[in-house]
Amino acid sequence: DEKLKIAIDGPAGAGKSTVAKLVAEQLSFLYIDTGAMYRALTWAAIAAQIDLNDGERLRQLLDETTIRLSNEDNKLNVYLNEADVTQQIRQNDVTAHVSLVASHELVRKEMVERQRQLAQQGRAVLDGRDIGTYVLPDAQIKVFLTASVEERARRRFEEQQAKGMESSLEQLKEEIARRDNLDSTRAFAPLKKADDAVEIDSTNLSIEEVAAKIIELVKERT
Ligand code: C5P
Repeated sequence: DEKLKIAIDGPAGAGKSTVAKLVAEQLSFLYIDTGAMYRALTWAAIAAQIDLNDGERLRQLLDETTIRLSNEDNKLNVYLNEADVTQQIRQNDVTAHVSLVASHELVRKEMVERQRQLAQQGRAVLDGRDIGTYVLPDAQIKVFLTASVEERARRRFEEQQAKGMESSLEQLKEEIARRDNLDSTRAFAPLKKADDAVEIDSTNLSIEEVAAKIIELVKERT
């Protein structure tokens, strides 16, 4: 089915992007990291010193901005007005502010428009917070990926250590919990499990095991 879509939603640090990338690779699907799009806008807004509470101004900035997700040699790169911002969008100040930027309805409406356009190109895996509930409510496969907050903080901690970034486990745990809270309590298209999503708790599963479960779902349903 050329239209097959896989939606992977869930809280921060549950392993969505790693799993989504692997599933996309194994099935030769397009991978669309919707969080990277909100991060790119957040980075641009911070650089332009825009008030992140001002949804209208953020929307105006977004309307003037191209965000391109490229997938070359198994490396995902993010371009903002054709400048490579792949590394920048993972910085702590972007992570700390992205949920505020993503809370604005005016911003989300345009992002969702772009995400649907990208998904139209063919078979695709999308990961985010509102893919199964709002962006692609008709996706054939919907997964809600979770893990305990302790485990999610521990994974982030290891990632950051590997990159040589300073961080504390306790602080990461707080940051993750705060972001989950903002994402699931916002008024417009909050983080929420779709009624027809399959919940996978990855606390005690490897990336490969989660990917295998999702591919199993795809085989069952196609
Ligand atoms: O997935 P990632 O952690 O990179 O997403 C960063 C932030 O972008 C999330 O915490 C959330 O605030 C926002 N986001 C969203 N809707 C999506 C994807 C991400 O609101 N579909």
